[in-house]
Amino acid sequence: MNDDPAHVEPERNEKVSSKIYEEELRYVSPGLQEVAQLSRLVIKEGRGCWLTDVDGRSYLDLMAGVAVCSLGHSHRRYIAGIKEQLEKVTAGSFTTENRMKLLRLIASLTPPGLSRTQLYSGGSEAVEAAVRLAKSYTKGFEVLGFWGGFHGKTGGVLGLIGDPFKKQWGVLHPGLHLAPYADCYRCPFDMAYPGCGIFCLDFVRKVIEKNTAGSIAAILVEPMQGTAGNVIPPPEFLPGLLQIAHENNALLIADEMITGFGRTGKTFGCNHTGVTPDILTIGKGMGNGFPISGLVSTDEITASLPFSKASSSSSSYGGNPLASTASLATIQTIVEESLVENSQKMGDYLLKGLQGLEEKYEFIGHVRGLGLMIGVELVKDRKTKEPLERAVTRQIFLELLKRGMISMSYKANFRINPPLILKKEEADIALQILDDVFSFVRDHVRYKD
Ligand SMILES: Cc1ncc(COP(=O)(O)O)c(C=O)c1O
Repeated sequence: MNDDPAHVEPERNEKVSSKIYEEELRYVSPGLQEVAQLSRLVIKEGRGCWLTDVDGRSYLDLMAGVAVCSLGHSHRRYIAGIKEQLEKVTAGSFTTENRMKLLRLIASLTPPGLSRTQLYSGGSEAVEAAVRLAKSYTKGFEVLGFWGGFHGKTGGVLGLIGDPFKKQWGVLHPGLHLAPYADCYRCPFDMAYPGCGIFCLDFVRKVIEKNTAGSIAAILVEPMQGTAGNVIPPPEFLPGLLQIAHENNALLIADEMITGFGRTGKTFGCNHTGVTPDILTIGKGMGNGFPISGLVSTDEITASLPFSKASSSSSSYGGNPLASTASLATIQTIVEESLVENSQKMGDYLLKGLQGLEEKYEFIGHVRGLGLMIGVELVKDRKTKEPLERAVTRQIFLELLKRGMISMSYKANFRINPPLILKKEEADIALQILDDVFSFVRDHVRYKD
């Protein structure tokens, strides 16, 4: 008996996969991503939006390493860029021509004034650096995040996770506060947009007034929340937060780890509302799988002390020659192959198809999305909005997998974020597989009490 909640016995005939998976299980620390544990996939290679396992089965990848693999797998330009750099130099923090080109390219794409980037390797690291920068500039020491928010698992940001994941880790970093996010499907105040008058913004003001020590360095927010289920707030939310941050002499940090570089059908999530945050954090899709992240801010803010002291904002791997080259190749390809536009076009197409499924299946409570960042709420009852049980969503995941699709459907807040290169034929395959599995659930699974 395996007590791990993510463990489900596989039904598939998986010879080589099983052997390797079981062998690794003897050595790997428990706690791997749920999707890896549920699927027990052993991947051999990837091409475009498809992954192939060691038993030769192919899967349409609607997950892209959680919105990481923006160019799809094994993009030629990406491989060529990295290969070339590998033979030159791979380590060190000295300037390289490719790093200069990368920083210049990022500055040409970010909102006005955000032209100074510092590079890191992981998302949490970049967000922690952004918080340090905000403290440096404002001399404040508190941070306000949001329910449902996710910014990484390291100490400085663990307390800003807006769900029960942060429980049982002992004392969290002091000075961190949370307010409800503008999740209109599950409005924390049981109000309805737009009649609510964006009450959640008024509430943020109240949280700052009543809960904090009055020394906020930053409001940290995902322009669209990824981990919470690809939640799209109303357009007033981000501009309102910018205003509230500035009223409190704090900075607005837009964590664009997921939403950056085309995911939402615009270059950045904040472009949808024309907001220029004070600091942007970037990662995931800018490296297409190479571990690279960063923060982007203004001349004035990045010059603040102690952030700007020598060796103060840097790291061992941030912006190393290989990482910079991988990211340069990725972002250049996103721009030159019009992948932001493709994200918008294919996102609209998928969303429309999913809305058709929403009409057909009563357990689809809500479908929403911007570009290729799409969220589907799976519910027992549309009125109560009670989420489908984990056992059911895991079954949905495994049924999709059996039919050749990798997805994030193992939770009731089902996220769809394929590579930005998704083609219409692939979107059609995805919609057909989803339709098949949803009709299987309707006819064969007891999904409500
Ligand atoms: C919005 C956001 N910020 C930060 C992170 C943390 O990134 P990492 O896992 O690379 O530390 C994530 C990871 O999913 C994220 O979604």
